[in-house]
Amino acid sequence: MTADFIVTTTRKPDAASEIFAGKLAAQLGGKFVVREDFSFDSLKKIHGAENILLVKKNSVSVITAEGEFFFHPNTAHLRIKNLRGGDGDRLIDALKISDGSTVLDCTLGLGSDALVASFIVGARGKVVALEVNPLIAAVVRHGLKNFSDDTPQILEAMRRVEVVTADCRDYLSTCADNSFDAVYFDPMFRRPVKSSSGLNPIRPLADSRPLTAEIIREACRVARRRVVMKEHSGSAEFARLGFTLTDGGRYSNVSFGVIDKIYRRV
Ligand SMILES: C[S@@+](CC[C@H](N)C(=O)[O-])C[C@H]1O[C@@H](n2cnc3c(N)ncnc32)[C@H](O)[C@@H]1O
Repeated sequence: MTADFIVTTTRKPDAASEIFAGKLAAQLGGKFVVREDFSFDSLKKIHGAENILLVKKNSVSVITAEGEFFFHPNTAHLRIKNLRGGDGDRLIDALKISDGSTVLDCTLGLGSDALVASFIVGARGKVVALEVNPLIAAVVRHGLKNFSDDTPQILEAMRRVEVVTADCRDYLSTCADNSFDAVYFDPMFRRPVKSSSGLNPIRPLADSRPLTAEIIREACRVARRRVVMKEHSGSAEFARLGFTLTDGGRYSNVSFGVIDKIYRRV
């Protein structure tokens, strides 16, 4: 999964960016390439790479076949603003979390849901977010740690998210029983909602395998209270994996399903 990329910088990098790019390449098991004056297309051809991990002065992004994927908290920012204004958030309602709760987000992606959860659980809580694709994990981890153009509360929530590069199949098996209040899955939808999706830049990178009954069983063991899954409305995945749909979002193309631990023997 990692051999198809190279790491490089902008055309005229500062020394710190070059050093960081070299370190990142070593960490991820990829090749660091001096950018010189090459275009991305030329670099891809020369090195036989599908993707380019690009280190800029203050950010890291991936150039994929679908364009540039970079970290930005825009949808999370709006949702947090709404929460602060007293509006609800469907994910937070589904997870039933509040100040001090602990959450295992098994599908980090762009990091928006993890960030909103981190804002809600605050400094007394904890959000661990797993991402199986190392390039997505590297971009979002760097963004959450270094993004600076937001309010202090949102920046603090970003810094608190603990990103782990891991397949949730493996990670869940290492967790103790009841070790997180809620466990969350937002897998790549079985039927992508392409037109309205901010996920398009990560599609070439993201893992699209379906969840399995075994993963959900493990999640139910690890969750103290709830397991939640997001899928497109009408998805057969909810019934297949044993989730009950939550109310709300009648006109939305996404739905949330929950498994309440108290109603289920693991
Ligand atoms: C739909 S996106 C998640 C979007 C995310 N909730 C957000 O707010 O941006 C799904 C992500 O989960 C990752 N993923 C899929 N299967 C996984 C697994 N078994 N373990 C860890 N991550 C996984 C994909 O690579 C992708 O980045």
